[in-house]
Amino acid sequence: MPGRISDQIIEQVRHANDVVDVIGAYFPLKKAGANFRALCPFHKEKTPSFNVTPGKQIWHCFGCGAGGDVFKFVMQYENLDFLAAVRRLAERAGIKVEEETATGMADRGEKEMLFKLHDEVAAFFQENLRSAEVAKKYLAKRKILLEVARKWRMGYAPEAWDGLLQWAHTKKYKLSLLETAGLALPRTGGSGLYDRFRGRLMFSICDEQGRVVGFSGRILTDAKDQPKYVNSPETPIFQKGRVLFALDKAKRSIVEDKFAVLCEGQIDTIACHEAGITNVVAPQGTALTEQHARVLKRYAEEVVLMYDADEAGQNAIVRSAEPLWEAGMAMRVAVIPAGHDPDSFIKAEGGAKLQELIAGGESFFAYLLKRLSRQHDPNTERGKLQIVRQMAEWLVRIPSPVLLATYAQQTAQRLEVPEDAIRQELRKLQRNRRSATPHQQTEEEVTIETTPNLPAETLLLQLMLTDVRLVDLALERLETDWLTTSVAGAVICRVLKLHSTGKWDGPHTLMNTPADAAEERLVSELLAKTMPGTALEAAAGDCLATLARAHVERQLHDLRARQRQTDLTADDHDKLLRQVLDLQRELRDISPLSRKHL
Ligand code: UTP
Ligand code: MN
Repeated sequence: MPGRISDQIIEQVRHANDVVDVIGAYFPLKKAGANFRALCPFHKEKTPSFNVTPGKQIWHCFGCGAGGDVFKFVMQYENLDFLAAVRRLAERAGIKVEEETATGMADRGEKEMLFKLHDEVAAFFQENLRSAEVAKKYLAKRKILLEVARKWRMGYAPEAWDGLLQWAHTKKYKLSLLETAGLALPRTGGSGLYDRFRGRLMFSICDEQGRVVGFSGRILTDAKDQPKYVNSPETPIFQKGRVLFALDKAKRSIVEDKFAVLCEGQIDTIACHEAGITNVVAPQGTALTEQHARVLKRYAEEVVLMYDADEAGQNAIVRSAEPLWEAGMAMRVAVIPAGHDPDSFIKAEGGAKLQELIAGGESFFAYLLKRLSRQHDPNTERGKLQIVRQMAEWLVRIPSPVLLATYAQQTAQRLEVPEDAIRQELRKLQRNRRSATPHQQTEEEVTIETTPNLPAETLLLQLMLTDVRLVDLALERLETDWLTTSVAGAVICRVLKLHSTGKWDGPHTLMNTPADAAEERLVSELLAKTMPGTALEAAAGDCLATLARAHVERQLHDLRARQRQTDLTADDHDKLLRQVLDLQRELRDISPLSRKHL
C-alpha cells in the first residue's frame, strides 16, 4: 500500500513551489510577456512552444499537448509517481511530509534509513578522498578532475578493516543496518563485522532518482589476488538487475535524443558524460537483464551498444542484445577501435569522434552479420551454413516485415545466395520450433507468422495502389511496427520499399517483382475492385490512425496480460500502471493528431 499524504500538506507543498522557479531550476525559461517560454523537454522541437503561466501556476506545450501543474511537471520530467513528486517538492521547500501508511511502514522505514545511510556514507567516502593521496594520484592518472569526482560523488574507502565501522559508531548507526546495506560483513570464525570496501576508489551508484543506493570500489594497485572491482551486494534498495549507472543523470538526454547508449563500466560512462555525451548508462557489473531493458524502454525505443573492443566486450554485445530484443528495443552497435574502450578512445581521439562512432553505429543485425562472417568463412559451405543458421535465429523473431526483408536480403548478399534461400531457412526454423511445441499446425500456417489482414491494412493498400500520393503519405507517416505480419502488411512494405528506392511506378511494378502466391492474389483482388472516387486522402489518414491505434492496443493487451501475473512487486504494478496510462493517453491523442496533419 502506498503511503498517503494529506490534501492539506499537498496544497502547502504546491504553494511553496512556484511553477516558474521549479521548472526554471531544470532549464532556463525566457520571459515572454506575462508568461515564460522554452523548448519543450517532452518532445523535439526547434522553436519554443513550451509555456509556463505563473498567473495560473500551470505549464503547457502547444507542440505536444503536454501540460499540468507543478506536480505534473516533476512527475513527467523526473519520471516519478505523484507521491514521489510531492515528496520531492516538499523536500525542496523544507516541508515535512507526514505519511499515513496502512501497512509497509516498517519496510519503508528500513528503506528510508538505508537511503539516508548511503547518502551519508557517500559523503564519508568523499571526505576521505580529500586527504587520500593514493586515490587522488590515481584520479590524476585517469585524467579525472577533482571537480568531476565531486559531481559523481566519487570517494575513497580508507585502507582499514573498520574505517567505516568506526565512523558508523560515532554516527550511532546500528551495526545490523550496515550489514543489511552490505557495507560491512561478519568476520569468519570470530564475532563482529569488518568493512567491505577497503583502500578503494569509490563510485556512488544512484537510482533513477539520484539517491545513492550502492557502491562500486576500484582497486588502486595491480594486486592480482584482489578483484578489480568490489560491489555492493543486493540490498532492499539495490537491485543490480534493475539499476543502471548514471541513469539519473542521463534520463533527460535519453528522452531528448530518443536513444540510450549502453557501455560497460562506470569509468567509461563518466568519461562520456564529461565529454558531453550525456545519454550514456551502464549496467552494474552484471549482464544486462530484461528488467534493465524495460527500464530503458520507458525512456527510449532504441539502444546503442558501445562495449569494449576486446573479445569479452564483443561477446557481451551479443548477450545484451537478447534482453533488449525481448523488450522490443531497436538496437545499434558502436564499434570502438581495437585496443580501446570508450574512456581511452575519448582520451586519444576526443568526444566528438566518439559521438561520430555513436551516430554512425550500424544496426545490430548488420553488426551480427559482420561478426559471424569473421568467425566463419562465408566462402565455404560449412561457413555459410553456420552464418545462416545463427542469423536465422535472430531474423526469425523480427516482427517488422520491412526489417526482416532488409536483413534477409543483406544476409543473402553477404553469402551470395538468393534471398529466397534465406527465407526458406527461416521457414524451416519456424517449422522446427512449432513442431517442438505441442500445438499442431496445419501446412498453410507454416510460414513466417502470417496473421489475417486487418481491414485498415487492406484498405490502405488499396488506396496506395490507386494513387501514388498516398504511397507518399504512407511513406511519411506510417511506422512499420503498426503493421501486422499479414499478407497486406507485407505488400504494403514491399510497395514502400519500392517507392523509397525510386522503383515504384504504379501497381504493375508489383507484378514485375516476384512475390508469393497469397500476395499476388491479394493485389489482383484489390485492383479488380473499384475505389470510391472521393476523399481518398482522408480515408488513408483514417487507416493510418486505425493502424496506429491497433498497434497501441496490442501493446496495452500485452501489458494487461502482464498486470495479471501473480509474481509482481508493488513497484512492478506501479510501473505497469503508468505504462498503461501512458498508452491510453497515446490512444486518445491518435485520431485528432492524424487528421491535423492532412
Ligand atoms: P572493466 O574491466 O572494463 O573496467 O569492467 P573499467 O570500467 O573499464 O575500468 P578501468 O578502465 O579498467 O579502470 C567494466 C565494468 O564491469 C564491472 C564494473 O562495473 C566495471 O565498471 N566489473 C569489472 C566488476 O563489477 N567487477 C570486476 O572485477 C570487474
Ligand atoms: Mn574497460
